[in-house]
Order: sequence, then structure tokens, then C-alpha cells
Amino acid sequence: MSVPFAWNLDASAAPPLQTEVLQVDPFAPSPAHLARAGAVIREGGLVAFPTETVYGLGAAALNPSAVRRIFIAKGRPSADPLIVHVANMAALERLTSGSSPWLTLLLPFWPGPLTVILPRASAVPLEVTAGLETVAVRMPAHPVALALLEAAGEPIAAPSANRFTRPSPTRASHVLEDLTGRFELLLDGGPTPHGLESSIVDCSGDRPRLLRHGAIPAEVLLDRLPELEVPDKPLLARPDAPMRAPGTQLKHYAPRAPVTLFLGAHVHTLSMLQAELTSALSLGLKVGVIGMQEALGALSAFPIETASLGGSLEEAGARLFDALRALDARQVSLIFCIGFPEQGLGRTLNDRLYRAAEGRVRVLD
Ligand code: TXA
Ligand code: MG
Repeated sequence: MSVPFAWNLDASAAPPLQTEVLQVDPFAPSPAHLARAGAVIREGGLVAFPTETVYGLGAAALNPSAVRRIFIAKGRPSADPLIVHVANMAALERLTSGSSPWLTLLLPFWPGPLTVILPRASAVPLEVTAGLETVAVRMPAHPVALALLEAAGEPIAAPSANRFTRPSPTRASHVLEDLTGRFELLLDGGPTPHGLESSIVDCSGDRPRLLRHGAIPAEVLLDRLPELEVPDKPLLARPDAPMRAPGTQLKHYAPRAPVTLFLGAHVHTLSMLQAELTSALSLGLKVGVIGMQEALGALSAFPIETASLGGSLEEAGARLFDALRALDARQVSLIFCIGFPEQGLGRTLNDRLYRAAEGRVRVLD
């Protein structure tokens, strides 16, 4: 893919900042803290805040120099566009041009973990859209995110608040681990409920298309919008295939230790994983395994580090990125992940694991 829009990202040009942390009640954030955060945004600063999906690193969306600072802080390529967060429909209208028949059908998901892509209005800086003529917009449901948008009084562009290619942050500690000294203020509202990013639907073309599996399962979106085009097997797209959308690069969500993803029929997957575990352990490697509680139970005889994803897909979503970071903190040299059946949130989880694994996948039918 050609890079439509790029500028020089020189992180060394940015002197380290004092990052301030304010604890907020996720359901009833303090108005004084929100007023402070809103002022930082209006002055062109960066505020990290919880959403119902993951923490975002926000800047005033209509201020190009504030938006550039997001890319520098994250080390993110300038060709990877940002999502603009809004608190009401009037803001959506300011950011987009024309209308989409699909949008009306998707609006019941707002506020919530759905991002829509629409033609951009000229007010939206090209820094936000990476030079594209479309813009991604989302109305978040988290009370802190909504209250911050109200306090700032303007739309906020925010990618996930992690360093580029690292797992998305689902806790304030993850944001600090990656970005301390690179932004002004963190609103710590505790762990984020979904733990997986928003589902992204492109409504700018002839047919609505799912660009990223997310916190709303594809089946639920299809119920509302049967025309939705859901890419067949985004998961198993070849690592060398051209990018379908900006930001869909393979290496993403990656911890420091290399990840291998095991997919397929449960029993066979486990026996293949056990065989690979045996050989890694015989080499003296420290191995971490991520999977549902039940699957990990079958590995109790192995001297390994484990991070349980719990007993349901919702719990697994909420825990996944923390599990990847937790195993890094325990300094494992390899991470094995047990994947999910390709349905519901299982598809989103597999998508994230596939990218974390940079294509190292063992598939068993
Ligand atoms: O849940 C979420 O969506 C979180 C929270 C903070 O809202 N945000 C998030 O942002 O995941 P980020 O930047 O990590 O991922 C946004 C992705 C980009 O990588 C890109 O693929 C896609 O959104 N995107 C944004 N604008 C686009 C556009 N105009 N066309 C196609 N894709 C776009
Ligand atoms: Mg991200």
C-alpha cells in the first residue's frame, strides 16, 4: 500500500513531560478532575482516559499539532489513521459529510464499542485521517470518556494508549508502562470492561464492510445490518498479503516474548501444544501459556507460567491484553496461546492473538 500521508516523526524532539495521574470513580468521575482534563485537551495536550474497550490517548481532534503529538508519543506511523470520539450526534455531523443509509441501522450501538467510517468533513485535519477522505468516528459508552468529551467541549482523537505494536492497555498501569513522560495527564478509572477494541464498520462505500473484529461480535452486527460484508477469514489472511485497511498490519498487540497461537479442535490442539511444550522445556526455556481456565487445567503437570482467561468469552476479552503483559513481566522467553472457536467474540480474540503471534500459528482441523 502506498503511504498517502506522512511526516517526520521525531520523538527526540519532544522533551520528557511530567505525567500526572488522577484517580477517578469510573461511574461518577470528579467534576474537578474532568475540568482539569478538559482544559489539558483544549490547550493542545494529551490525556489518557478509560473507555469501555481499552484506554485511549486523546488530543483535540481538530487541532493538527495536538494530533501530531499522539503519533510521536506512541511511535505510531503517521499513515495509520485515528478514531475521533464524540459525545453527541451534532459532533458527528460536524466531522462527516453526506449521509449513509447504513449509519441509521448502526446507531442503536451508540454509545458503545462501534466505530463507523464515513466521508470526512473538511474540518477534520488530514493528520487524523492519515490523508484519507474518510474519518472513523465513535461515541464511547464509558462514563469517564463521555464526561471528558463534555468537559473538553470538542471531539477527541484517540488511538489505544500503548506504544505502537504493543498490546492495547486495559489498565492505567499498562498506559504508564508504555507512555510515562510522553503525555500530560492520565485519568485512572480502573480496568476497562470489554478489554477488546471497538468493532469498525466502513460505511463510506457501496456496501458496509467490517474492517476490524471488535467488542461487538460480527453476528450481532449482522442481525442489525444483514448487508454487512464480513471478510471471510481475516484471521488466516496470509502474512504477506497486501494490507486491506490502514492499521491492519500483522505485528500488533505483541508482547516482548514471541507468541505462538494454537488453533483448532480442542483435544488435538492441546496434544500438539503439549508436545511443543515438552520440547521447549527440555531446552530449559521458561514458557508462559495463555488460555481459558479449563484448557490450562489440562496442563497442570507442566512446570510453566500460566495466565488464565477465565471461563467465558467476555472474561477472556477483558483479560487478554493484561495476560500478554503479565507473562512479559514474569520474563518468559516464549508464550503459547490457546485460541478460540471462530464465532462470536472468539473471532475477535483470535484476531488479536494472530497479530500478537505475527503469523506464528499452528492450525489443526
Ligand atoms: O476501541 C477503540 O476503538 C479504541 C478506543 C480508544 O476507542 N481505539 C482504537 O484506536 O483502537 P486505534 O488507533 O488503536 O485503532 C484504530 C484503527 C486504525 O488502526 C485504523 O485501522 C482504523 O482504526 N481507522 C481509523 N480511521 C480509518 C479510516 N478512515 N479508514 C480505515 N480505517 C481507519
Ligand atoms: Mg491500537
